[in-house]
Amino acid sequence: FTRPLVLGIETSCDETAAAIVSADADPAKRLVAHRVLSQIEDHADYGGVVPEIAARHHISHLDRLLAALMEDAGLSFDDIDAVAATTGPGLVGGLMVGVMTAKAIAMAAGKPFISVNHLEGHALTVRLTGEVEFPFLLVLMSGGHCQILDVTGIGQYRRLGTTIDDAAGEAFDKTAKLLGLGYPGGPAVEAAALEGDADRFDLPRPLLGKPGADFSFSGLKTAVRRAAEACVAKHGILLKQDRADICAGFQKAIGDCLVDRLRHAIADFREVHGDGTFPLVVAGGVAANKALRTRLTAVAEETGMVFHAPPMALCTDNGAMIAWAGLERFIAEPDIDDRDVSPRPRWP
Ligand code: KG4
Ligand code: ZN
Repeated sequence: FTRPLVLGIETSCDETAAAIVSADADPAKRLVAHRVLSQIEDHADYGGVVPEIAARHHISHLDRLLAALMEDAGLSFDDIDAVAATTGPGLVGGLMVGVMTAKAIAMAAGKPFISVNHLEGHALTVRLTGEVEFPFLLVLMSGGHCQILDVTGIGQYRRLGTTIDDAAGEAFDKTAKLLGLGYPGGPAVEAAALEGDADRFDLPRPLLGKPGADFSFSGLKTAVRRAAEACVAKHGILLKQDRADICAGFQKAIGDCLVDRLRHAIADFREVHGDGTFPLVVAGGVAANKALRTRLTAVAEETGMVFHAPPMALCTDNGAMIAWAGLERFIAEPDIDDRDVSPRPRWP
């Protein structure tokens, strides 16, 4: 392995995950081992993540997941150079489990602990799996966030736009819940949309054409509810085709907003960085959406940027993104030791 070797732990929401990454020059060889244990089934009956259940699940499973990970890698904790964990933002119970476990391993093995911001983990994942140089323009869309950022280095982010109400993933989740598609909503809405007519319902495009690069999705959610209610009023139930048409219309509306906001952000980014060919990166759970990836690829082509996205499995929460962000920070600051850092549920 090319050192440093960094162990990363992610427990901020409903995935218990850990991974080991190395600094190999070949991106394809950097991910040494990686395990994700989803809690989706534990929360399914509640239609969303229940913080207390999430924290208990992390406590019950993290030790064994780590043991299995080390076995996959054929390594012991002594072989690792640093231990990273998500310290925020996220659900505090889960964060405490991951942070305390990571600190304990770091102290026992005499290695530094590195605090990682979950969003920075998403932001840097494309540098784990490919060659993406700074500066790049980042569209970060997860269950809790929806931002466009000018990324000029590790820890160096200028926010060009954010949501003024719901996050993109949250809009997908709420739409799915409304239509009886279960949790998490994104993949279910995307699948249903494949069979739908995106132009049947006239759904709003909040903020479209307005200056700036901010988002708003709550009006869209209300319109989705009205469309569903109108369908139910007609047939007594929500027909499969109605549901598909609403999903397709919703996804197209999100795509239209995204494209419009992104064009403004690119203009802003180019004012600072000029006319070069820069990377346009999408990250976070919603980046797994193929229809939205296609829309973003088109904007990249139209504006002379180069589109990059993490592989599907590394879009939603995972340990590799945390290990990698830890590794990047460790290389930038070899004396780093964040053992005094506590979990931060909110961390912009
Ligand atoms: O990054 P992530 O795993 O967790 C957070 O940091 O929030 O993102 C989860 C979000 C959920 O809202 C989920 O519905 C959404 O990502 N998501 C998707 C897709 N896969 C996951 N949204 C749209 N299309 C998808 N295929
Ligand atoms: Zn995430």
